[in-house]
Amino acid sequence: MTYVVYVPRDASARSVGADEVAAAIASEAAARKLDVKIVRNGSRGLLWLEPLVEVVTPSGRIAYGPVEPTEIPALFDAGMLEGASHRLHHGPVESIPYFAKQARLTFARVGLVDPLSLDDYRAHGGLRGLRNAASMQPADIVQAVLASGLRGRGGAAFPTGIKWRTVLDTPADQKYVVCNADEGDSGTFSDRMVMEGDPFVLIEGMIIAGFAVGATRGYIYLRSEYPDAAQVLNGAIELALAAGMLGSNVMGSGRAFDLEVRIGAGSYVCGEETALLESLEGKRGVVRYRPPMPAVSGLFGKPTALNNVVTLASIPIILDKGAQHYRDFGAGRSHGTLAFQLAGNIKHGGIVELAFGVTLRELLYDYGGGSATGRPIRAVQVGGPLGAFVPEHHFDTPLDYEAFIAKGAIVGHGGIVAFDDTVDMAKMARYALEFCAIESCGKCTPCRIGSTRGVEVIDRLLAGDRPQLQLTVLRDLCETMEHASLCALGGMTPYPVRSALEHFPGDFGLGGPP
Ligand SMILES: Cc1cc2nc3c(=O)[nH]c(=O)nc-3n(C[C@H](O)[C@H](O)[C@H](O)COP(=O)(O)O)c2cc1C
Ligand code: SF4
Repeated sequence: MTYVVYVPRDASARSVGADEVAAAIASEAAARKLDVKIVRNGSRGLLWLEPLVEVVTPSGRIAYGPVEPTEIPALFDAGMLEGASHRLHHGPVESIPYFAKQARLTFARVGLVDPLSLDDYRAHGGLRGLRNAASMQPADIVQAVLASGLRGRGGAAFPTGIKWRTVLDTPADQKYVVCNADEGDSGTFSDRMVMEGDPFVLIEGMIIAGFAVGATRGYIYLRSEYPDAAQVLNGAIELALAAGMLGSNVMGSGRAFDLEVRIGAGSYVCGEETALLESLEGKRGVVRYRPPMPAVSGLFGKPTALNNVVTLASIPIILDKGAQHYRDFGAGRSHGTLAFQLAGNIKHGGIVELAFGVTLRELLYDYGGGSATGRPIRAVQVGGPLGAFVPEHHFDTPLDYEAFIAKGAIVGHGGIVAFDDTVDMAKMARYALEFCAIESCGKCTPCRIGSTRGVEVIDRLLAGDRPQLQLTVLRDLCETMEHASLCALGGMTPYPVRSALEHFPGDFGLGGPP
């Protein structure tokens, strides 16, 4: 008999030894003359259990983790290949509470399938959305995306259907679909995990976008720090071409769509859509003035649908199951699900895809298990380096775009970085400004100069040099950066600075709450 064993090829699993575990399983099987087929899947997103080995048994895929290569002989002795119990045994993956309680729409296949098997993709519902889209008029596809309530998952939460309608309605001889896979936010990894675990869903989403807006060419702008994702994406594109999913006649639809991966230039601001376009055109990644918006004049001056990986990967399920199915998840004006990424000082880091409306407290404690150090979680930065620090008394705020804005915070790309009570929030505020100074593209003064002056002001404040004066200058500076910066790098750096000042003044030597 053939035993089937899954060992993730995801970068996070590889970083903790998944390759060595796969090799140890192969050599142990050979030594015991057992027929074992190893499938390198994506990660299920339960990162604290990586490397998570799954064994196919009549009662489902049984999980073992975190597995060390040296433990493989003992696991074989214990009957791992039959799903027997062991210290590292967690039962069927789907029954692990962290996983079982999620609403996996976009991540439905991530970790389940072999990322480079189109058959596996089809067997698990892939290509149904594209088939439906191929029989629809472009305006009807746009309408479905609009009706689903999907908003951009890259950070700005702009309605995807409205962006696509603008591209569709702008006449041009050539249009483009560009996928923003720069994923520069600290503590975020959902884009990477989709690309490494289910690349066909992104490809399918981009083709549907092409059909919707009338674009025949797409680019994935991938950060250079993601070599594993590049390898999987390029492999998947080759397979999709060979299968007629890409090319001059996509799945016999008579419509064309070609796709290429381009490696990014290694700068945070290259994730900003107009700097990204400059970089994709081979220039230095500097922000463009807007208008015109990229939807009207984007890549090489042509109308461009530019979306984040998770936005595009959410399209196939909308076209498959219908707009209403997707819209029914969520809260307020935040429809659907978001793959929250638990990172920082957290016991159970990983991906938690849930409908909007879940609270930070639920994510941090019911899923995350509290801090990794066991100390109280004091603050959480939500939405990347430009996101506010959320204090404990706001942990019950539902994660929806508007509810967070009302608290002076953002949901952004769903990155959640936890800090325990040893964190120094003045240092964090200083770091936010320092980060902005380092990453600024330099095009506008409030960001280029303001960030550097901001670091100096915080240093004077912390040195006790006329604190009230420094505070006034810092607040003034934040206001200028917020209102006068050309893009959100300068415009949103005040979020972490102000939230640290407001909620943790004691760390700045200003008295008030601890
Ligand atoms: C400094 C900066 C960095 C950004 N980095 C990213 C990024 O890495 N990935 C991303 O999808 N969006 C990023 N964005 C947002 C993009 O400009 C843009 O809003 C987004 O890609 C649009 O796609 P969406 O509508 O699907 O979210 C960034 C914005 C700014 C201002
Ligand atoms: S805010 Fe900063 S990154 Fe954005 S355009 Fe101005 S200088 Fe460049």
